[in-house]
Amino acid sequence: EDELVAVHRSLLQHADEPGALLPILHDVQDALGYIPAHTVPVIADALNLSRAEVHGVVTYYHHFRAEPAGRHVIQICRAEACQAMGADALLAHAELRLGCNAHGTSKDGAFTLEPAFCLGLCASSPAMTLDDQPHARMTAKSFDALVAQTSG
Ligand code: FES
Repeated sequence: EDELVAVHRSLLQHADEPGALLPILHDVQDALGYIPAHTVPVIADALNLSRAEVHGVVTYYHHFRAEPAGRHVIQICRAEACQAMGADALLAHAELRLGCNAHGTSKDGAFTLEPAFCLGLCASSPAMTLDDQPHARMTAKSFDALVAQTSG
């Protein structure tokens, strides 16, 4: 199976290193977009870890996804400068508008919402990215417009 090829490639490269789990999880997510549940036991066995340990790391680090992302990924900055300019309200609006929580994906699979920690746009906060494109000085209205014009 293709997904396991990506896992084995990374295991070959890292399995003997100390602290191999994180680089392997990064590799798998980079290759597949998420960490499929059926790859967890394969990784655990190769590293002599329990499945629970691997699963625990996947769920502890918000960077890792246990489910595939939506077609578009929105990251909303929650760091200090953006907080001061209403990032919490923006995130709450985004959750309501998309019908999912931060770290979730909208029901139609179009958008995955993620909190971020400083996108380097502090002077133009509150900031977010849509598919890695920066958007500054966001309001609920500009958020809705952006989502509406992002097709499928
Ligand atoms: Fe939000 Fe820097 S604090 S972009």
